Amino acid sequence: MQDVITIALAKGRLAEKAIAVLEKCGIDCSQVKDPGRRLVLRDETGAYQFILVKPSDVPTYVDSGVADIGIAGKDTLMEENRPLYEMLDLGFGRCRLCIAGFPDAAQRRGITVANRRVATKYPNIARSFYAARGETIDIIKLNGSVELGPIVGLADEILDIVESGKTLKENGLVVLEEVCPVSAHLVVNRVSLKTKGNKIKALIAQVRAALEEEQA
Ligand code: PRP
Repeated sequence: MQDVITIALAKGRLAEKAIAVLEKCGIDCSQVKDPGRRLVLRDETGAYQFILVKPSDVPTYVDSGVADIGIAGKDTLMEENRPLYEMLDLGFGRCRLCIAGFPDAAQRRGITVANRRVATKYPNIARSFYAARGETIDIIKLNGSVELGPIVGLADEILDIVESGKTLKENGLVVLEEVCPVSAHLVVNRVSLKTKGNKIKALIAQVRAALEEEQA
């Protein structure tokens, strides 16, 4: 029986580009492109199996070994901080993790005595970012529409991803500081790299070649 490689794909903004890269590698993604309500999909050869999961769950599936490979944003990987092999920066899904707020928050940041309240989907990243500069903050964990935080007075600033900058602009907010750049990464389960190493390395070589061809 052949070793099936299971790939966890993040649903949402990264899915389309991840599928396009896999197709460039000659992998049949017809089921993944039209999954209906199915959550486990296969390619025509049976060599690959795909699971479509929430972006923040990709590291969990790969770390547990349920999936051998995962494709997720660097933001999610940093937040989850699992012991995975980050094999490849895929270069798409580029955006920035930023601190943002109202324009006058930049001045208030220097003089505020009480803890600033930071709304974010990324509490772990926020905790370490502010701790590294010796600032104590109150974290307000939100699951979406984080920009609402300062607008309704729930938070003084936010830590969130900025892609086009449109959401900030349309809500009167500005980038106060950049935390780090973000893009999609291919990650591999540590045990899988040993037990299915040949197949995984071959796939990674194909993905790398497909990306290089795109850039050429
Ligand atoms: C993300 C992010 C920002 C927005 C940034 O939210 O949290 O809200 O996109 O993109 P922009 O700079 O191009 O405007 P997402 O669309 O994932 O939805 P969410 O707010 O429900 O998390």
